Amino acid sequence: MKILVLNGPNINMLGIREPAIYGNKTYSDLENQLESWAKESDIEIEVFQSNHEGVLVDKIQEAYNNFDGIIINPAAYTHTSIAILDALKAVGIPAVEVHLSEPSEREAFRHISYAGIACIGRFAGMGFDSYKMAIEFIKNYIEN
Ligand code: DQA
Repeated sequence: MKILVLNGPNINMLGIREPAIYGNKTYSDLENQLESWAKESDIEIEVFQSNHEGVLVDKIQEAYNNFDGIIINPAAYTHTSIAILDALKAVGIPAVEVHLSEPSEREAFRHISYAGIACIGRFAGMGFDSYKMAIEFIKNYIEN
């Protein structure tokens, strides 16, 4: 089973950006944690981050016929990007939305999720553990 883990803008700034919201661990800590959870779950993952909407759209399109599932934290593009929503719908690969924080408990402009419309599940507000839950959920979904 191959899962693509996509992270949007500013997720590479983890450890530096707003630690009161996102914690002190770095993006490379997240990559390492994801690799170790993937091993435990006996799945293959590719972890990718971009600050650019079109690059994320390209990556979703390239996943077609190459990945069984997508875990995506679109970051700020969650709340703005119809292009990412359309890309997820276009490839039709099961996708799960994740967030480190809980956007629905933050500013009103974070309450809408376009990408979420194309997702089969959502895990938020648990820091890195949101991704862990998403891995377990998508693995179970694809197997069953
Ligand atoms: C985020 C929440 C978004 O609202 C924000 O723009 C981010 C990170 C999260 O993981 O909590 O960049 O997706």
